[in-house]
Parts: sequence; structure tokens; C-alpha cells
Amino acid sequence: MNTPNLKAAIITVSDKGSRGERADTSGPALRAILEADGWSVIHSEIVPDDIPAIEAALINCADNLKVPLVLTTGGTGFTQRDNTPEATKSVIERETPGFPELMRAESFKLTPNGILSRAVAGIRGGTIIINLPGSERAASECLGFIQKPLKHAIIMTANDSVEHV
Ligand code: MTE
Repeated sequence: MNTPNLKAAIITVSDKGSRGERADTSGPALRAILEADGWSVIHSEIVPDDIPAIEAALINCADNLKVPLVLTTGGTGFTQRDNTPEATKSVIERETPGFPELMRAESFKLTPNGILSRAVAGIRGGTIIINLPGSERAASECLGFIQKPLKHAIIMTANDSVEHV
């Protein structure tokens, strides 16, 4: 009951990446960090910065694949095409602000620009969705900050979703 189901999906949000004009290095970097920590990454994809495309990818991971953890990377900044937080907010049922709070606080210690990610996180059914920034370095740093409490969160969310079926 207290063994976490360490399965994850990674969604890279990038217009250029989705058109094949830029290699996705952030998704593979996140996969490597998770796998070194005992996780299986059962799904990964690259989607453009369109809200419906991001929403559909998140809903597929949560409702169809029923993966306990979805990480997104990219689209959390201040430009018109940075839509990941809005798409995430529209599909989650409850926010889990501790993850982005920790990421911004720890990132600020490394660079003042660390507060410029508008990342959000939340729960949909038995799935935790967490936005990470887009660059390989920023995404890897932020995942490192939240890795420890993440496993406890997965246990709580899984137990809760079973108990309330
Ligand atoms: N967080 C960490 N740890 N390290 C970084 O270098 N860069 C920031 C921020 N978070 C950064 C970081 C910058 S410059 C931006 S614009 C935002 O993440 C948003 O990035 P995104 O639009 O690629 O998601």
C-alpha cells in the first residue's frame, strides 16, 4: 500500500520541437533523472504551444494512460505562446502549489530569473501534473528540487483515488 507506483509521462511543450525544427533535449534529460531514481517513463511526446493540444495530451495521460505523474517541460514563461500553465489549470481538479513554490524559491537562489517561470501543478484523478521550465538545465534543476516530496505525494494521491472509486 505504501509502495509508490513510479510510472511517469513527459510532455515537451514546444512549437519548434513539435515541427522538428529543434531537438528536444529537456524531455530526455528528465527521463534520465527519473529513471535513475527508479521511475519508468511509459510515455513521452512533443506538443505545440496550443492550449487544446496541451490539454488533450494531459487528459490522455491522466484519464487513458492513468499515469501517476505527468511532467511538462516548456511554455511557462511570459510570452504570448507560453500557454502551459493555462492549459494545466483548465484540466486539474485541485492545485498543489507546494511544488512550484519550492521550484521558484530554490531556482531564485541559483538565478533571479528563476521566479520567471509561471509553472503550476495539480491533481486530476489519480494523476499529479507538474509544469517545469523549458530549458534542459532549468527543467533538470527544478525536478531535482521536488524529487523527494514527489514520491510521498504519489503514494497519497494513489491511495486517495482508490479509496474514492
Ligand atoms: N529555473 C531554474 N532552476 N533555472 C533557470 O535557468 N530560467 C527561468 C525560469 N526558471 C530558469 C528557471 C527563465 S529565464 C524563464 S523565462 C522561465 O523559467 C520560463 O521558462 P520556459 O518559458 O522555458 O518554461
